[in-house]
Amino acid sequence: MTKPATRPASPLFSSGPCAKRPGWTTAALDDALVGRSHRSKPGKAKLLKAIEDTRRILKVPADYKIGIVPASDTGAVEMALWSMLGPKPIDMLAWESFGSGWINDVVKQLKLKDVRKIESGYGELPDLSQVDKTHDVVFTWNGTTSGVRVPNGDWIADDREGVTICDATSAAFAMDLPWSKLDVTTFSWQKVLGGEAAHGMIILSPRAVERLTTYSPPWPMPKIFRMTSGGKLSDGIFKGETINTPSMLCVEDYLDALAWADSVGGLDGLIARSEKNLGVLEAWVATSAWAGFLAEDKTIRSCTSVCFKVVDPWALALDADGQAALAKKLADLLDKEGVAYDIGAYRDAPSGLRIWAGATVEASDLEALLPWLDWAYAEVKAQLSAA
Ligand SMILES: Cc1ncc(COP(=O)(O)O)c(C=O)c1O
Repeated sequence: MTKPATRPASPLFSSGPCAKRPGWTTAALDDALVGRSHRSKPGKAKLLKAIEDTRRILKVPADYKIGIVPASDTGAVEMALWSMLGPKPIDMLAWESFGSGWINDVVKQLKLKDVRKIESGYGELPDLSQVDKTHDVVFTWNGTTSGVRVPNGDWIADDREGVTICDATSAAFAMDLPWSKLDVTTFSWQKVLGGEAAHGMIILSPRAVERLTTYSPPWPMPKIFRMTSGGKLSDGIFKGETINTPSMLCVEDYLDALAWADSVGGLDGLIARSEKNLGVLEAWVATSAWAGFLAEDKTIRSCTSVCFKVVDPWALALDADGQAALAKKLADLLDKEGVAYDIGAYRDAPSGLRIWAGATVEASDLEALLPWLDWAYAEVKAQLSAA
């Protein structure tokens, strides 16, 4: 097979940090409020704008609270788990490594006992109908390492008694999030909008605020997790008075990303870009002799972290180590050619490829990548067959 003549204009297909928006340069940071206090008037104004623009673009209800918090999505999820869990039984959903990580924290770190694990393997979703509306539930909207997302929030009862805690880091700005079903929603700036890492967002429904202000966990609460003071919500956090010092460069970059989101039609435009990207990959898989989706069921297939397995019978005859070596060689070759960076499957996931298809990725770059995938597969297969 001859090497394709055209390269993607951008080889950035990493699942996080994700590609920056088309046209991004460091000039986007020129107005950053560096060297100034984040608690100064202009500092607070920027942080508040980040919150308000997030609310507008994500269509978050006016009575939900939005805060900028430390330690990215992980920080946001942990502060919710540590602050809110304990008073009710908990249903923990997991179908890939991030969901499994949250189970680990709740069971092994918080040592909570009344926990039900509702799990499935990579490429599938567990039975969502098992979720009990009298329990709290913790889940990931989109499992970044398996490319499986929940199809909707219909399985969450409107008259639930527990709170829902949703890690939406690879879903926010790419998928519709039904706010009436979500009590705590978290994400990080480094994902769908291609922002800088370090900061996370936490979005609280009135029910979540009620839990926070009526329940005090028995364990000590690190300062960076504390959302209440004297039994009251620390309201300032949700107006841009961050718990500790944020990077104003990161804030500026997030504001730039939000402005770009507006320029492509807001949430609907972002979702359309991501779904179009998934469509490009689906059209290719439909005719591919060697690549298949880890998420075989289209209704649960992610439009951001798209995960592939090798389905060529020749490769399937290899043992697990052989298949892993094949996938690694494939990703390495594409990296070496400079056409796709960071597209190997996540370390804990089944071997294969993972290509980010969120809104900041151009469909034309995915189109240009496809012949390279076929070329690289043929090269690697020939090499391994000859060995
Ligand atoms: C579903 C999910 N949860 C949590 C994380 C951790 O995010 P962060 O590194 O922004 O804390 C990631 C990162 O890839 C993720 O995809």
